[in-house]
Amino acid sequence: MSAAANASLLKAIASRRTIYQLKPELPASLTINDIQATVQAIIKDTPTAFNSQPNRALILTGETHKKVWNSVTDSIEAEAGKKRPASVRDEAYGSVIFFTDDKTTEKLQADFPAWAAAFPQFADHTSGAAQIISWTALEQLGLGAHLQHYNGYVKAALPDKIPAEWSVVGQLCFGTPAETTGEKTYITNQVEILN
Ligand SMILES: Cc1cc2nc3c(=O)[nH]c(=O)nc-3n(C[C@H](O)[C@H](O)[C@H](O)COP(=O)(O)O)c2cc1C
Repeated sequence: MSAAANASLLKAIASRRTIYQLKPELPASLTINDIQATVQAIIKDTPTAFNSQPNRALILTGETHKKVWNSVTDSIEAEAGKKRPASVRDEAYGSVIFFTDDKTTEKLQADFPAWAAAFPQFADHTSGAAQIISWTALEQLGLGAHLQHYNGYVKAALPDKIPAEWSVVGQLCFGTPAETTGEKTYITNQVEILN
């Protein structure tokens, strides 16, 4: 990788931010198929323990996005708790739903019993990697996005055709950004070289 490509990668990583205020539209010249192709490539190439490939994803938009997020909103009793899922329903253009396939994890546990306890955690690790790479990539496409974890509520509201063994692990809600991000504060956190 050249220094310029490395700088561009680091810039993309630093540019990824949480953007809650969204408009339910796509930036000009971007299509939902572009988003699908991007997430598809990331799911394919994100590394997994023993190359087991437990990551799954789907993209909700249109009526299905509205229906799922309306159900999440209705399922939460406290009025204050409804605010975020209602904003996703009304202001996001879509949401990427990230899953891990529990059957894949169970097969790994059967095949490699000495590592059995580690595999659920490894599945979460690779899902987190896919989520954050996707978040970074969508923002490079000109979208704004934020990450949510209404996992059980989302699972309950998804269409029946989603396999029961797919566990919901995160939702990346996206649309056209309608706010600029504020300053972010950082702790001092030096990565040292030990020779
Ligand atoms: C693993 C992880 C879980 C997160 N969960 C949530 C969440 O459930 N709801 C939410 O609004 N933001 C969530 N966030 C967003 C963080 O609050 C946010 O990334 C952090 O404050 C830094 O801000 P930035 O995204 O603008 O850099 C999550 C972020 C990460 C990395």
